[in-house]
Amino acid sequence: MTKKTANLVLVGAGRMGSHHAQNIAFTLNNAHLFGIFDQYLPGAKALGEKLGCDFITDKIEDIANHPEVDGVVIAAPARFHASISKYFLEHGKAVFCEKPAGLTLAEIEETSAAADTAKRPYQIGFNRRWDRAFVSAKEKIQQGVIGTPQQLRSLTRDPGPWGGDPFNIPTWTIFYETLIHDFDTLLWLNDNAKVVEVRALADALVRPDAKSHGHLDVATVTLRFDNGAIAIAEANFCAMYGYDVRAEVLGSLGMVQMGDVRKPNMTSYNKDGAQDDTWRVDSDIFVDAYAAQIRAFANAILTGQQTGPNGRDAHRALAISLACIESVTTGNAITTNI
Ligand SMILES: NC(=O)c1ccc[n+]([C@@H]2O[C@H](COP(=O)([O-])OP(=O)(O)OC[C@H]3O[C@@H](n4cnc5c(N)ncnc54)[C@H](O)[C@@H]3O)[C@@H](O)[C@H]2O)c1
Repeated sequence: MTKKTANLVLVGAGRMGSHHAQNIAFTLNNAHLFGIFDQYLPGAKALGEKLGCDFITDKIEDIANHPEVDGVVIAAPARFHASISKYFLEHGKAVFCEKPAGLTLAEIEETSAAADTAKRPYQIGFNRRWDRAFVSAKEKIQQGVIGTPQQLRSLTRDPGPWGGDPFNIPTWTIFYETLIHDFDTLLWLNDNAKVVEVRALADALVRPDAKSHGHLDVATVTLRFDNGAIAIAEANFCAMYGYDVRAEVLGSLGMVQMGDVRKPNMTSYNKDGAQDDTWRVDSDIFVDAYAAQIRAFANAILTGQQTGPNGRDAHRALAISLACIESVTTGNAITTNI
């Protein structure tokens, strides 16, 4: 009989991982939360108790060698992503990995090769590709509704006040972990075009006191594509009005816009005017997209057909991040072939 649910194990029971595990346990009908692995066992146990999952471990081999585990959902810190992904692929497990898939191009290449050898799904957590607005916009572009793309933009503004510790965040996080979403979005929206030039400016305007430590919390990037299109990507760690994720493509015949910081369907009015509530948390704004991407991952395991972003997509987005770092470091525009 054909299997109807994929047995998934969460790797990394932190903020993002908890959300994925909750989706697997309660929202998705094609996946089963088989276990939780975290190197910090108490965290994994607490989540397991909440979700009713009792295969909890801090030993990676318990998962890799378990014959009933079909795949893993990795939400550990970025520096571990590539090595953990490769390890599980080499043990024949399908891998969903949060972005970034790795911090060097070489490690993503090695992980992709492991996925090819194992013939197992290897999907990356570029969740905007699963958001309804972004999907509809992409369809319009593909249908030719806006003509030839000329100018694109994608932005990510995290909600303020920003509570991060700038002295504990690696310097290039804004490119590796934040803007990497925007780079993937722009590549995906301007399909079949290559990025031939990258320029980036970045600064510490939210926490200028941490600038000498190497901290960066705002960035603006321009990309030039070989089909003539020009794109802007921008990020800011502290938008006081909410969590703002938007994109736009202007073409020869029209425009598509995606995203809205305002929560839909409710505006309050009084003597001072009109007021909208705004999104504050990624797991609210992307609630459906986060579920959809894991549903697609489970489906890839069950059908053998991967539809979500793969190692090649991760490689391209990271290559832009690395070009940005080079651009900020040298002050130059970087010629690329991405
Ligand atoms: N796609 C998105 O919108 C989105 C949003 C938030 C975070 N993320 C990504 O999710 C990942 C996790 O972020 P977070 O905010 O949940 O972090 P977090 O610090 O809250 O959680 C990380 C968890 O991983 C565990 N861990 C650490 N090293 C491990 C290892 N070697 N093996 C197994 N577990 C390990 C930690 O104990 C912790 O429980 C990051 O890569 C981040 O970029 C993605």
